[in-house]
Amino acid sequence: MKVARRSFDAVIVGAGGAGMRAAVTLAESGLKTAVISKVFPTRSHTVAAQGGVSASLGNSEPDHWTWHMYDTVKGSDWLGDQDAIEFMCKQAPQVVVELEHYGMPFDRTDEGKIYQRPFGGHMSNFGEKPVRRACAAADRTGHAMLHALYQRNVRANTQFFVEWLALDLLRAADGRVLGVIAMEMESGEITVFQAKATLFATGGAGRIYYSSTNAFINTGDGVGMAARAGIPLEDMEFWQFHPTGVAGAGVLITEGVRGEGGILRNASGERFMERYAPNAKDLASRDVVSRAMVTEINEGRGCGLNKDHVLLDITHLDAEVINKRLPGIREISIQFAGADPIKDPIPVVPTCHYQMGGIPTNYHGEVVVNGASVPGFYAAGECACASVHGANRLGTNSLLDLLVFGKSSGESMVEYIRKQGSSQDEIPQSEIDRSLARVDRLNTQKSGADVHQTRLAMQRTMQSHAGVFRFKDMLAQGVDKILEIEKQVLQTEIKDKSQVWNTARIEALELENLIEVAKATIISANARTESRGAHVRDDAPDTPEHPDGRDDANWLKHTLWFRENNRLEYKPVTLKPLTVDSVPLKKRAY
Ligand code: FUM
Repeated sequence: MKVARRSFDAVIVGAGGAGMRAAVTLAESGLKTAVISKVFPTRSHTVAAQGGVSASLGNSEPDHWTWHMYDTVKGSDWLGDQDAIEFMCKQAPQVVVELEHYGMPFDRTDEGKIYQRPFGGHMSNFGEKPVRRACAAADRTGHAMLHALYQRNVRANTQFFVEWLALDLLRAADGRVLGVIAMEMESGEITVFQAKATLFATGGAGRIYYSSTNAFINTGDGVGMAARAGIPLEDMEFWQFHPTGVAGAGVLITEGVRGEGGILRNASGERFMERYAPNAKDLASRDVVSRAMVTEINEGRGCGLNKDHVLLDITHLDAEVINKRLPGIREISIQFAGADPIKDPIPVVPTCHYQMGGIPTNYHGEVVVNGASVPGFYAAGECACASVHGANRLGTNSLLDLLVFGKSSGESMVEYIRKQGSSQDEIPQSEIDRSLARVDRLNTQKSGADVHQTRLAMQRTMQSHAGVFRFKDMLAQGVDKILEIEKQVLQTEIKDKSQVWNTARIEALELENLIEVAKATIISANARTESRGAHVRDDAPDTPEHPDGRDDANWLKHTLWFRENNRLEYKPVTLKPLTVDSVPLKKRAY
């Protein structure tokens, strides 16, 4: 197979918020920067983020970064690293104001300041009452952010490779990362992108589940490539189920709806969150709200013919507020649920939304294995685990994560590249051949499993064996099933073997990434025999000895899953922040 070669200072895989924020820093430093993306940059999945980006600007009421830090540690159920959380929350006001200066069209208060709304788990004064911390552009914040970042990159001469699929990470024999190999989707042409520094910003992998708010492009490509290249994956058992996906469709209804005053109701019209979270109510953190909703449904208080969802009610809000602050939600609800929220409540169910774990990094964006950074390799955004979200992420901290760690990884890369000088190492041919063999198999395989059916089997298994509530026996069975499905994934057959634009081949390659994520998730979840954040098991219930089922004595540690032999290791959580006191461990209550 013919392989072209290109050479850059920096290669970034993924053109969502994290990749484009890093690219701004690199390209504005005068470095030759390439961004490889499966879709046009402004169609990356960041576009789907709706409700806001968190920063303690205090534009409408008092706020402070230490309160934001407290909420994030508590939201993470103490699994987040407190040095990285301090770094992120302290940086938040600065990165948001920078974005404003790039031209981000935030909504405004009457005084012309950035508009902020409340979001789940964000409280003032160390957990007292909800605070307005989510900086919003109506309910299209991610969309506005991507456009601002893309335009800034065009100005900085970043080179975009659009509709290219990265196939594999390329490493030297001593482990240094030398770039990626990628395929142009239209022509099937394969190119080696050699770089002094490589950043993965490939987003999440919510498509391992059957019902997901994630786009079809969210196939864990960076995570899969990292695993194949021998990098362990951290805390993959923790997946967020967003409380409000449209029932039956999975499309996201922003938590900003509850921030603007929306109320969740069961079949008898009861505001049931008052029973589960008497203080924060509908604005408790997402894991708490999702479990409350599933409990209502499981106990027969669900709505509709099949009693399989609850209702999100904003009929008490002024139509003017809905049209100004939530126009996209009104449109989604009419299109996907047939309900105009001005008159009718929206049917909603918890839906897979966010991957808390990922490629292990420090808060400089450097990928870290066995306590040492992997030279030349960086990760940021949802594919990375810094770890600021721990066992449960707070809404709007995802867009903040992109900005803060996109920027910090860009800065680390600039420093690293400047130290490298002008020469570039030879890429071992074995690395290139390893990747070409994967493509070659698909081009020659004569019989085998169907890609669509195999992906569906994986998604259904993950949905029923590793959902909002987890069960000991189901987890163990899920491990066996996913390992069986993996065998089929590695034997898929595509009927159309043409080299040019070929969706089936792309989907088969994406499935090889998804299955790595599914394995890491179910194996890590099966092993963690406590309940923490979004990982709640029937055999680890709430007891006086283990409040909420959390077992800090044995499980206050990060999981590391290695692809080789599905081996698990553990590493300590960083409880010491950079400059302030630790947030002490306690039972979570909202
Ligand atoms: O509800 C939302 O608008 C989603 C935000 C997030 O996941 O951070």
